[in-house]
Amino acid sequence: MGICQAARRPSEPPPLALYVHLPWCVRKCPYCDFNSHAVRDGIPETAYIDALLRDLDVECARVGATSDRDRPLMSIFIGGGTPSLFSGAAMRRLLDGVRSRCVVADDAEVTLEANPGTVDAAHFAGYAEAGVNRLSIGVQSMSDKSLERLGRIHSSADAQRAVAAARAAGIDNLNLDLMFALPRQDLAAAREDVQRLLALAPTHISYYELTLEPNTAFARQPPALPDPDLADAIQQQAFERLAAAGFERYEISAFARPGARCRHNLNYWRFGDYLGIGAGAHGKLSDARSGTVARRAKRRHPEAYLKADEPTSAVQTLSEQDLIEEFALNAFRLVEGFTAADFERNTGLSADALEPGLCAAAALGLVSRVDTGDGEQVVIRPTARGLAFLNDLIAGFAA
Ligand SMILES: C[S@@+](CC[C@H](N)C(=O)[O-])C[C@H]1O[C@@H](n2cnc3c(N)ncnc32)[C@H](O)[C@@H]1O
Ligand code: SF4
Repeated sequence: MGICQAARRPSEPPPLALYVHLPWCVRKCPYCDFNSHAVRDGIPETAYIDALLRDLDVECARVGATSDRDRPLMSIFIGGGTPSLFSGAAMRRLLDGVRSRCVVADDAEVTLEANPGTVDAAHFAGYAEAGVNRLSIGVQSMSDKSLERLGRIHSSADAQRAVAAARAAGIDNLNLDLMFALPRQDLAAAREDVQRLLALAPTHISYYELTLEPNTAFARQPPALPDPDLADAIQQQAFERLAAAGFERYEISAFARPGARCRHNLNYWRFGDYLGIGAGAHGKLSDARSGTVARRAKRRHPEAYLKADEPTSAVQTLSEQDLIEEFALNAFRLVEGFTAADFERNTGLSADALEPGLCAAAALGLVSRVDTGDGEQVVIRPTARGLAFLNDLIAGFAA
């Protein structure tokens, strides 16, 4: 059966998560194209939390209208921007507000992003009391020279202090972000960065290649970056070091100790549902009644978001082709791959709809099908080449 005849099947809605966007930073990093804005006259904490909770009221009503039963939040991710600019009291009001409006699973993962330049031990204690049980700290590099070239507001000693403050607050589940292929970075400097990061003993590491994003200061005035061969060698070296230290690569850029994979991000990559509240936040929600999936975006600029009676700026109901492409874009990032049943459950489409794309990608050696031996389940996985050339892999699923 081809894509056009893909049959819709009734399905249980997928797991549900919540993303909360806090859009302010001390200053804008020259490589960053996230929806983040330098703080000018202080953060309007109270007004912003009020706006987030109004936004969530509408989202909750929407969830209620699309399903016959309560759908617990399996994770909450408070990202930015720099959420660690907010006080513990503000985070408490936000998370109490979430718990009074939504069913939150007892074991929900609740992550907050922190910039080491904004760490305040009292804030961290407040976050833990509010219910945050995982921190994602933007270390970026452990070399002070590199941090300066990246325009960061902190030193490597600040990163060490941030990790200590997290642990002192009782939060041991720690992701550390590290970037590579940095201005003037060589193999030895990159090795040292990974080594010093590992010494901080995180449970999870996100390892991102620095990219020059359009409309950033770095795109306008590019720094001298390692050439592609050196960037590959840096990445390969890190993969080996991280594996030797007990970190499993489970997604293109994500490495975890056993049991410490990021459940919130896994839900994105498995094409689960999520509500998005806050300036510029995106959400994806399946309607079990109509069999449709809708994406919703919120007003991007913080001032417009704060002022608006209606925070939503765009709604899109995904076509079958959108569902296939978006599923592929996410699920092929995962080393473990997925099964036909995963695809059917989370898109409502027949797995036959994947066949043309799979055939194209298999012919190029970008995907493999592995029979797990239990009769029914064939696991579809990106090959090592598929992970390295994800854009080529995904192209086979485009219209
Ligand atoms: C939204 S930031 C969150 C953390 C916090 N705002 C900070 O910077 O400390 C998420 C992560 O994306 C990565 N990132 C941002 N811009 C990037 C770029 N141009 N290339 C590669 N990674 C990038 C950084 O590692 C950053 O920590
Ligand atoms: S602190 Fe993070 S979100 Fe803010 S500008 Fe820098 S990279 Fe972007």
